[in-house]
Amino acid sequence: MQNTKAVRYYEYGDPSVMKLEEVPRPRPKPGEVLVRVRATGVHPMDWKTRAGYLKDFMPVELPHVPGWEFAGSVEEVGEAVSGFKPGDTVFGRGSGTYAEYAVAPAATLAHKPDALSFEQAAPLGLTGVTAWQAVEAAELQPGQRVLVQGGAGGVGSLVVQLARQRHAHVIATTSPENVDYVRALGADEVLDYIAAPFEKRVAGLDAVIDTVGGDVLERSWGVLKTGGVLITIAAMPDQAIAEAHGVRVRGLAQLESTTRILEQLGDLAASGAINVPVAATFPLHKVAEAHAASQTGHGRGRRVLIIEF
Ligand SMILES: NC(=O)c1ccc[n+]([C@@H]2O[C@H](COP(=O)([O-])OP(=O)(O)OC[C@H]3O[C@@H](n4cnc5c(N)ncnc54)[C@H](OP(=O)(O)O)[C@@H]3O)[C@@H](O)[C@H]2O)c1
Repeated sequence: MQNTKAVRYYEYGDPSVMKLEEVPRPRPKPGEVLVRVRATGVHPMDWKTRAGYLKDFMPVELPHVPGWEFAGSVEEVGEAVSGFKPGDTVFGRGSGTYAEYAVAPAATLAHKPDALSFEQAAPLGLTGVTAWQAVEAAELQPGQRVLVQGGAGGVGSLVVQLARQRHAHVIATTSPENVDYVRALGADEVLDYIAAPFEKRVAGLDAVIDTVGGDVLERSWGVLKTGGVLITIAAMPDQAIAEAHGVRVRGLAQLESTTRILEQLGDLAASGAINVPVAATFPLHKVAEAHAASQTGHGRGRRVLIIEF
């Protein structure tokens, strides 16, 4: 059996529990593709899982290799896979992607446009698809006013841009440090959440897309117009609260295949219609630093781990 390197942890804990070590190289099952990983996104969910915060409702088998989105080149294809062959460059969603090699279902991969680097393509795999699904769920029409909570974040940066693609009037909240950044993404109005509470600045909105949760989510119901819609990716949708406010709430649709969405995101990014927000890159052995940065809960876009061979 061939060995390769991956980041693993054997117990929940602080960033130091993650070790870069030799592991058996995964093999693709039928319908799967083995990818030589070149870049992988670091999600808030990764450090929340590592810290053990999610262990009661989303336990992972230990030792666990983190990572859900990536870009790289096809090493091997499993049985019944068509459309991908060794050497193709791809991006998408997989599991255990903090590694030199990872497997993913072919249905969650797409070909990487040549115009995109691996580090630009990797965050489209889950971050991009989530932003896409959130904007789809909001069913935004041209001219509708949408508030994006967390416009500077990994998902929020893409939601702002995708909502602008639909000709919505985009209002986004951010810290003072990121006001210019979010404006440059194309937001029509940027609300500094330190300067004033957003609910003092906006009302009667068609939609809210929340990427922050907690108190920000709770205060968001009241800024919608009657019949408006709230999408949150940071909590479970709560129908009872929505009904009490006379608004609708939607979660993200479950997808059988994400290839078509990935292709559209790839085309938009390759043509320059959207920018992929990469906050910072880290070599794989600096994974603890990448988690610490993500754990601040602040920043501009997605942190990305780069895998050098
Ligand atoms: N499929 C899914 O359901 C899915 C997928 C991905 C992520 N998520 C979840 O969605 C959430 C966001 O993910 P992410 O990857 O976008 O996180 P992220 O990259 O860490 O970004 C979070 C952003 O929130 C902003 N923020 C913090 N406090 C704020 C406040 N009070 N008001 C407005 N903005 C605030 C920060 O911007 P500033 O620096 O300007 O404060 C930061 O950039 C997480 O809970 C994650 O677990 C769900």
